[in-house]
Amino acid sequence: MSYKISIIKGDGIGPEVINVAIKVLKKIEEKTDVRFELTEYGAGDTCQKKYGEAFPKETFEGIKKTDVLLLGAIGETASKVILPLRQNLNLYANIRPINTYNETDFVIFRENTEGLYSSKGIRQKNKAIDTRIITKKATKNITKAACDYAISHNIDRITIVDKSNVLETCKLFRETAKETISQYNLKYDTMYVDNAAMQIAIKPEQFQIILTTNLFGDILSDLSASLVVNLGILPSANIGEKFGMFEPVHGTAPDIAGKNIANPIGAILSVKMMLEYFGETKIAKIIEDAVSKTLQEKYTKTTDIESSILTEIERAFKTVKNQ
Ligand code: NAI
Ligand code: MG
Repeated sequence: MSYKISIIKGDGIGPEVINVAIKVLKKIEEKTDVRFELTEYGAGDTCQKKYGEAFPKETFEGIKKTDVLLLGAIGETASKVILPLRQNLNLYANIRPINTYNETDFVIFRENTEGLYSSKGIRQKNKAIDTRIITKKATKNITKAACDYAISHNIDRITIVDKSNVLETCKLFRETAKETISQYNLKYDTMYVDNAAMQIAIKPEQFQIILTTNLFGDILSDLSASLVVNLGILPSANIGEKFGMFEPVHGTAPDIAGKNIANPIGAILSVKMMLEYFGETKIAKIIEDAVSKTLQEKYTKTTDIESSILTEIERAFKTVKNQ
């Protein structure tokens, strides 16, 4: 099998972590018949400085011709690149697994195309207005994605998180989510977002799937990062009908860029999610196991993490071959 992958390395630590992810892809090519056709595109702060545009038309046109996009991180121009990608490719499901490789393991399903992040924003002198639009259609899409994931992962309950005691948009979100979940053989519970934040902090093991809107999902996933060793290990997938975009949850981390301490595991696990999207579940599992073993060693240097993961992957393929 051959897959067409667009690559945007982006800014700050983006290139550092994506370069490691590419080495993982090359290792898979070395060990299997799977092939990856990689095409790199420019976008972000560095691209804006060089070419005057953060998100050139050629980048978007090129990406559309491929199967998926692997993205590092975009700095100050993130909203000019990531939001249009999510909205124009209708990548409605933002899936963020929070795996502590300990006891806690839940997944955040964040609606990715509307809510406050799709606001056009109006600025007057002493007043600013952002509008929050929530539709039944987009809510159904993200809920179905969460339900399908639940069924394929033997999960029986989804927690709908919103602020429907106050916001009309959240009332529609909750109603639609409940209605959609009821069509599957799944249970649900509901929680207001402020309480959900506290519950994630004090009793995260109660969650299996959190289903929520765009801004709330963004905030809750960074909060959930406090449960893992490092924000740098969290991956994410942005899935639509025809395209998938995979990116670590973290940003460009300018405070640590170029110091060989950026954790590349979020980018590597994003590759793992990409392989699952392609249906290459056996290879995905090998990567997940390599990450799990590497995390036990508590490495802090990018290069140490990289060599441990590549060694573990190599070892896993040898074992598979000898079986
Ligand atoms: P950030 O995620 O870049 O950094 C937050 C903290 O986590 C920092 O202390 C950083 O050192 C640490 N961190 C992040 N990734 C790490 C990794 N792989 N290994 C080890 N430590 C890591 O968020 P921040 O500081 O709020 O934003 C910095 C820039 O990134 C901004 O320009 C922002 O717009 C952009 N950003 C881009 C995102 C994207 O491309 N999806 C997401 C979030 C922020
Ligand atoms: Mg964020």
